[in-house]
Amino acid sequence: MFLAVLALLVVVTSFFFSSPTSASLLTSTGSTIELDGIPYYVSTKSFASIPSTFYTQALADGKSMGTSWIPVTVVKAASVKLGTTELQSTLETFGDIDDVWTTSFLSAVLILGGTSYTSNTSTIFSGADAPSVVSSLPHGVGSEIPPGPYLISPTGDLYQPYRLYSDTQGAFTQPLISSLTVEGTYAALPATVTGIASPGIAVPSRLYYVKTPDKPLAGVRTGIKDIYDIAGVGTSDGNRAFYRLYPPRNVTALVVQRLIDAGAILVGKMKTSQFANGEIATADWVDYHEPFNPRGDGYQDTSSSSSGSGSGAGSYPWLDLTLGSDTGGSIRGPGQVQGVYGNRPTHGLVPLTGAMPLAPQLDTAGFLCRDPAIWTAAARAVYEGLPFYDQYPKRLQTIGFPTSETIAANTVVADTNTILLAFLAKIEAFLGTSATVLNYTALWDHTKPDSNLPPLSILLNRTYPTLISKEQTKNVRDPFYADYAAAYDGRLPFVDPVPLVRWRFGDSLPASELDVAVNNKTLFKNWWETHVLPPAVNNSATCSESLILYTSGANIVYRNMYLDPPVPPFGYDDSQISIFAEVPDFVVPLGVAAYESTITNHTEFLPVSVDIIAARGCDGLIFNLVEALLAAGIVSIPQAGRTASGGEILGR
Ligand SMILES: *[C@@H]1O[C@H](CO)[C@@H](O)[C@H](O)[C@H]1NC(C)=O
Ligand SMILES: *[C@@H]1O[C@H](CO)[C@@H](O)[C@H](O)[C@H]1NC(C)=O
Ligand SMILES: *[C@@H]1O[C@H](CO)[C@@H](O)[C@H](O)[C@H]1NC(C)=O
Ligand SMILES: *[C@@H]1O[C@H](CO)[C@@H](O)[C@H](O)[C@H]1NC(C)=O
Ligand SMILES: *[C@@H]1O[C@H](CO)[C@@H](O)[C@H](O)[C@H]1NC(C)=O
Ligand SMILES: *[C@@H]1O[C@H](CO)[C@@H](O)[C@H](O)[C@H]1NC(C)=O
Ligand SMILES: *[C@@H]1O[C@H](CO)[C@@H](O)[C@H](O)[C@H]1NC(C)=O
Repeated sequence: MFLAVLALLVVVTSFFFSSPTSASLLTSTGSTIELDGIPYYVSTKSFASIPSTFYTQALADGKSMGTSWIPVTVVKAASVKLGTTELQSTLETFGDIDDVWTTSFLSAVLILGGTSYTSNTSTIFSGADAPSVVSSLPHGVGSEIPPGPYLISPTGDLYQPYRLYSDTQGAFTQPLISSLTVEGTYAALPATVTGIASPGIAVPSRLYYVKTPDKPLAGVRTGIKDIYDIAGVGTSDGNRAFYRLYPPRNVTALVVQRLIDAGAILVGKMKTSQFANGEIATADWVDYHEPFNPRGDGYQDTSSSSSGSGSGAGSYPWLDLTLGSDTGGSIRGPGQVQGVYGNRPTHGLVPLTGAMPLAPQLDTAGFLCRDPAIWTAAARAVYEGLPFYDQYPKRLQTIGFPTSETIAANTVVADTNTILLAFLAKIEAFLGTSATVLNYTALWDHTKPDSNLPPLSILLNRTYPTLISKEQTKNVRDPFYADYAAAYDGRLPFVDPVPLVRWRFGDSLPASELDVAVNNKTLFKNWWETHVLPPAVNNSATCSESLILYTSGANIVYRNMYLDPPVPPFGYDDSQISIFAEVPDFVVPLGVAAYESTITNHTEFLPVSVDIIAARGCDGLIFNLVEALLAAGIVSIPQAGRTASGGEILGR
């Protein structure tokens, strides 16, 4: 259907009054349009100019669409002469790899890079649907214009349309677009689409970008957890008062800047539970509603704190990569329950300049992603100098894995055990080894540095809540409260119950408790490196002496439950090995487990994943291992949607 209907819906403008004597400043911030029912945003900045005769030619052929713009498809001639077959197959590829380009952009075809296009176009395009003009520019002209969908104006200006998607899962706080006025900064996207409480997110065509060694993330559509600063826009940390109080940021967080430098396209900031503390839907999320988990019945908790990053990665095929942060599980939890890849990196792999701290001793920046190739490319871009390894340890250890004798009463556990055991058998075969059970809590009891020390469950019971509360009250709360009081006549800002409870716990402790917590953490880390897994060894072919697997299972957590009031996060479990030992801990999705949903009264499926731990500094080993497991068919690329094989998300 080449006869496109292009409807100009809104010209979005902004204005303000300056002094009464000067003229009003009226600024266009772009347009939203629909092309055959698909919404697009078009900025005011043209990408390139070509001779306006091309426009006139298209117009003369009677394919005017009711506005001054005409949709155009730009094709690059790879060879000197683009033949009919090449053109046809090129256009088929466009449809396969891109969601912004549609056949509606075939109103006119502009061929660049070849000498001429001489074939009889009616052998490709027939009847009334034929493009009004198939034309090529002289060799070399327009060589900077990448292929893909454009709109051409009467003056010959080419505009790149952004497709608008609705954030139906509530994963974003703020849709973004590159600023037109200040290079290197971002601005709120001045466009929206149909949908209740669902901002529009604008994505550019995938056809414009080619990944290169310099730009390994070229065109990768990326969402950023809203604790990282982005120049030009404010940071919320998940708190409304905090967002309002401070002006737009002037400097982009280092991690985010490295993503931008590698070619990533920032499409928006994503929801975080407040000040990156662990919150559960729905009562804990007072300031912003928790995003929706796309899997299963659509009413499972997203886990936190990188909730928006996890929800977006699991929900939207049009979103490629999200940046999260992990202090005590904030990437791994959302990765597990949304069934996507997620990495907590070695602590200190990248400076967290421009990111809100929870506890600097534990804070890390990592990704949530469906495609391991993009995950690895992001890691290479952000963790500068990280070594990669392609030989794997022969030693494989498991913590708390089921055995073939494990009897499971319910389907979730039974399916989970089956999936984990099948994966274990495959990775054993892949590595050419047999796994052994690691009971490190028992090992601690036998080898702890001082026989007076208690079991790990007591040593580390209060370590995490002490570190985060003592650090965050000092680094975030106190300056925030002081600034808010100064601005609002001594008032307090609203803060959700969870961070308040944790901060009060911090206030109840003497200052010396922070040192006690750091000391307990250090005791564990040193012991781990001595008795379980030494850190990265130079000149070792495999970096880590062993790989360690553990799992948190598939847990059913409905978001419509009434909860007990929050308490500080006491307790110790296996997910805290990596936070105290500073080792990489990667979530790898494996499959889905069936459960009977009380929401849908129907069988639904929840993701099952495994966590892989390696020695400190050996992140590159796990990234390569996952890509190798993918190549070997042992793991796969999960789809966005209701299950790992896609499907319409329920409940929206
Ligand atoms: C192009 O091909 C069509 C169909 O084969 C034919 O009818 C038409 O005459 C051709 N046009 C030219 C200019 O060769
Ligand atoms: C950004 O720079 C402007 C002008 O220098 C300043 O007024 C503003 O406070 C700065 N904002 C932040 C968040 O530092
Ligand atoms: C580890 O060993 C201890 C002491 O022998 C035992 O109580 C515990 O159940 C073991 N843990 C696992 C996961 O096997
Ligand atoms: C952990 O600490 C909390 C708060 O002090 C306490 O209530 C709980 O009993 C402790 N648990 C263990 C296993 O020591
Ligand atoms: C530190 O370890 C001791 C046991 O040696 C324990 O009693 C205490 O609760 C721990 N404190 C923190 C903050 O980790
Ligand atoms: C390992 O090698 C790196 C890079 O050559 C060096 O910076 C580091 O100090 C070495 N570490 C050890 C433990 O020798
Ligand atoms: C749920 O399904 C069961 C069996 O299919 C049926 O008997 C029951 O009435 C359903 N419950 C509701 C609330 O519809």
